[in-house]
Amino acid sequence: MILGIESTAHTFGIGIVNNGKVLCNIREMYTTEKGGIIPMESAEHHKKIAEDLFEEALREASISKKEITAIAFSQSPGLAPCLIEGMKFAKKKAKELNVPIIGVNHCVAHLEIGRLTGATDPVLLYASGANTQIIAYESGKYRVFGETLDIGIGNFIDNFARFIGIGFPGGPKIQKLAEKSKNYIELPYSIKGMDVAFSGILTKLKQIYESRKYKVEDLAFSLQETVFAMLVEASERALAHTGKKELLLGGGVACNTRLQGMCKIMCKERECKFFVPSKDLLVDNGSMIAYLGEIMLKKGIFTKVKNMEKIDINPRERTDDVEVKWK
Ligand code: ATP
Ligand code: FE2
Repeated sequence: MILGIESTAHTFGIGIVNNGKVLCNIREMYTTEKGGIIPMESAEHHKKIAEDLFEEALREASISKKEITAIAFSQSPGLAPCLIEGMKFAKKKAKELNVPIIGVNHCVAHLEIGRLTGATDPVLLYASGANTQIIAYESGKYRVFGETLDIGIGNFIDNFARFIGIGFPGGPKIQKLAEKSKNYIELPYSIKGMDVAFSGILTKLKQIYESRKYKVEDLAFSLQETVFAMLVEASERALAHTGKKELLLGGGVACNTRLQGMCKIMCKERECKFFVPSKDLLVDNGSMIAYLGEIMLKKGIFTKVKNMEKIDINPRERTDDVEVKWK
């Protein structure tokens, strides 16, 4: 019975997993009216709600805290103040319950949770707020085959959505607008090898918006068609390069049904299988942390309570820094 804690950015989540089965998955998100996330405020939010969410998680999973056998937490990468609150809470609980603690890489957890969908050795298109990466396992590590050269795709979409005054998070709202248009406006297509870039497209979109010549629906549609095509192209190249036969979507932007549809078409044409976890497991969540934590625990990768002080956060750890000792 593993309890997982997620706290890398605006979401504080707790999940409980037992033998690969998700028993509960709850979260609360820190939001701002205007502007981006303020790390200290988000951390304060996590600290305030942690204990209540913990109790709620136990109730939802119908277990008592004595049944918990280990605590997993997102140790990397993320906003330092947020990671610290997650770690403090994890240590507090590990001590209280006298159970081992497991530090988990958040990006790798997004990938591993895909196993629940049936994927065995996929290329992962990880498209979230802060991250955009194409990742696959090769010789002991998850390698990053392609990634954004500037901002994450979710932040790109959210930034444009804020600019046109439709609020945060922008992804679902842009999707709704896009569904109302079929009028494609030419935008820069920015892909270099397997890497992508969004800031030039963002500037262009803002200029077009300010020219007032086009409807926002057309802009939303053109935005999605352009940047999703870039992601699908880079993912297809990664599939060709690695010879893998599965594509897995991860991260909050993967909730987008147009992105899912485009991936499906590409996979069908390449005779690959396509996997996408349920929405609850796509966005930042504690269950994926618990899920990977359980896999690591079973392979003996954990820290005993008495050595807990040695554990620290690692805000900048990259996916390919992680030694995958559990495969
Ligand atoms: P990270 O994993 O990089 O720390 P995060 O915590 O910001 O990032 P997630 O919770 O995985 O990310 O995803 C949030 C992002 O997903 C937001 O940018 C939001 O706009 C986007 N998003 C959610 N639903 C949709 C959708 N239907 N279409 C496009 N984007 C979406
Ligand atoms: Fe994430």
